[in-house]
Amino acid sequence: MAEFVEIFEVGPRDGLQNEKRHIPTADKIALVDCLSAAGFRRIEVASFVSPKWVPQMADSAEVLARIARAEGVSYAALTPNMKGLERAIAARADEVAIFGAASEGFSKANINATIDESLARFAPVAEAAKAAGLPVRGYISCVTDCPYDGPTPPQKVAEVAAKLDAMGCYEISLGDTIGQGTPDSIAAMLDAVLCMVPAERLAGHYHDTAGRALANIEVSLEKGLRVFDAAVGGLGGCPYAPGAAGNVATEGVHDRLVALGYDTGLDSAVLLQGAAMARAMRGQ
Ligand code: HMG
Ligand code: MG
Repeated sequence: MAEFVEIFEVGPRDGLQNEKRHIPTADKIALVDCLSAAGFRRIEVASFVSPKWVPQMADSAEVLARIARAEGVSYAALTPNMKGLERAIAARADEVAIFGAASEGFSKANINATIDESLARFAPVAEAAKAAGLPVRGYISCVTDCPYDGPTPPQKVAEVAAKLDAMGCYEISLGDTIGQGTPDSIAAMLDAVLCMVPAERLAGHYHDTAGRALANIEVSLEKGLRVFDAAVGGLGGCPYAPGAAGNVATEGVHDRLVALGYDTGLDSAVLLQGAAMARAMRGQ
């Protein structure tokens, strides 16, 4: 039997957060419902950040309230602070994510905090989430390159990963936020992180800005990673990372994994419907 590799679908959050034009809530819900039918186990659908910082995510509670929740699917939300966590619990998110960075410039631009300040802010969020029975995922942005600070030392990523791991994150997602990683820089970063956190608790989150995300996934598979974040239709980017357009497209990751002999558990016909919906939402 083929080995299972999970694609964590982040399009409704990481994809749509970056769209400039207003996307109706009903369209977001229809996309999530299609993705639920495609067979994902985890879908990131919401972000309880400041609506002044990311207006596109202001309707996250309504999205969580109106989607048709499929049995066994975890609907995830970003929570930068206690206020975000309270909103996520009220909206009945199934799991939450705290999100930090391995570079100071991006941390400041994205969440208005130094790396140390952000970790101090995340600790009570992780604690309270666990007390509420919610699994906590951790993100680290700029794992190879930062749009403000340049190349990121692998050791810094390992240090932040160890701290998120100690906070009880069940998985740490390693973000090549601006898609400038290469198989060599991703491998060097993973070698450092794997000294602190085992591959079973890591995920690759690679943007495809330079067209190398699939190659970066392949090198990560060689290092033992078996979870990859992707956005249907290649939606997105990050509003606080200039040039971050384009998460790696889920359907492309699916095809590559299948070609490599892995099982994704996804229904490719439904996935393609989702990709068409996503492209229509961004006006393509
Ligand atoms: P701040 O301005 O330092 O926060 O922002 P504050 O605590 O001083 O609050 C300022 C105002 O925001 C107050 O309102 C708060 O109530 C409100 P006011 O009194 O001015 O009316 N506020 C909130 N409102 C709703 N929900 C909340 C919340 N928190 C405060 N949770 C903050 C700090 C973290 C809030 C802000 O910087 C922020 O929202 N940043 C989010 C940026 C973001 O969402 N970026 C994209 C996601 S990360 C990403 O895409 C990378 C990833 O994909 C991985 C990768 O690719 O690398 C994960
Ligand atoms: Mg991202």
